[in-house]
Amino acid sequence: MIYADFNGSSLLNPEVRDYLRTRLVDGPFANPNAIHCLGQQINAAIEKCRRTCAKSLGAQPAQIIFNSGSSEGISHVFFSILNCKSQKKKVIITSSIEHSAVVNAVNYYAEQGYQLETIPVDKNGVLQLDVFKQTIQKHQDNIALVSIMAANNETGVIQPYKDVAAICSAEKIPYFSDTTQFIGKEEFNFEESGIDYAVLSGHKVGALIGSGILLVKKPTQLRPFIFGGGQEKGFRGGTQNYIGIETLAIALKSFDENKSKLVNCKKNREAFEKKVKESFPNVIILGEKANRLASTSLISFPGIHGQGVQIELESEDIFVTTSSACSDNEPTTSKVLKAMGVQDDIGRGVVRISLCLGNDEKSYQEIFNALSHAYQKLGKIENF
Ligand SMILES: Cc1ncc(COP(=O)(O)O)c(C=O)c1O
Repeated sequence: MIYADFNGSSLLNPEVRDYLRTRLVDGPFANPNAIHCLGQQINAAIEKCRRTCAKSLGAQPAQIIFNSGSSEGISHVFFSILNCKSQKKKVIITSSIEHSAVVNAVNYYAEQGYQLETIPVDKNGVLQLDVFKQTIQKHQDNIALVSIMAANNETGVIQPYKDVAAICSAEKIPYFSDTTQFIGKEEFNFEESGIDYAVLSGHKVGALIGSGILLVKKPTQLRPFIFGGGQEKGFRGGTQNYIGIETLAIALKSFDENKSKLVNCKKNREAFEKKVKESFPNVIILGEKANRLASTSLISFPGIHGQGVQIELESEDIFVTTSSACSDNEPTTSKVLKAMGVQDDIGRGVVRISLCLGNDEKSYQEIFNALSHAYQKLGKIENF
């Protein structure tokens, strides 16, 4: 079996898996806020994990707020900044390729009266920085929030988040970056990034589903979204998911220790893409010319349905996804690809192959073989 949907949800990091085998059997289990020694032991472990995560992410421990994942972190940031009587600024700037967790938050606040500015991307899926700068100039003193992602989940295209951060910082505009796909796949340093708010989901980095982190440059400015019993210094109530938190620390530390593999990981992906293009000259790699996550390829054979390819690969025990939304069994080009100006014959044909830091030539070879079979078989059928 080859699992190639790490951008959807990553497999458990092997170190996390080994840890959980004994952790779940031996305990301890207790409320980390209890005064007895079991509670205190777990509380101390949470603080140790906070220090480990902070070190790995280039942040201060006080800037780490444990939560349930990115969707919560995104909602929290938007709530904290926008759902506030003292907020007098009225413009939200975002990009045309954000994940629905951001799009839905943005749309909600647009309904509450905020004005939206959506910055386009070029044909490689990269934010148009010149348009971004002009938009900042246009609304200068009226911008409540900038929300622009660090890497796209479908294409893997890395965005100029440091440039955006520098511009926002100069203009004193809060910058939230959806770093869900970036952290754990590329080197990331919160302090150096210049970002004010960033998020991650445990299940994207090899930790447990239901765990996550909100990174906040100035935590004292954050307002709580979940009140609960004052946990996480009152910034995020609710009894802490301490086992999830422990897995976050293990997974992030493991990434740190293995990040030298990124170079090889990218080389393997590039060699794979080259081979696919040599064998099938019609094939298009979306965002080909852009800087992309080391282990993400979004590939299309124009005229062959991505879903058909996905099913063929699955029959060979290889798990990929398409990036197409589907209604009435009629796959459509995703919003992200439309924003890149991708035509339907290409947009409907995509499959996303997303591996991890430990990817190897052998996995790519097997994917290549199965992809070749699928293209040869489906290419004989008139698809659309
Ligand atoms: C870019 C991006 N942002 C946000 C999310 C939401 O993450 P979660 O569903 O773990 O809350 C995802 C998940 O796919 C994502 O890829």
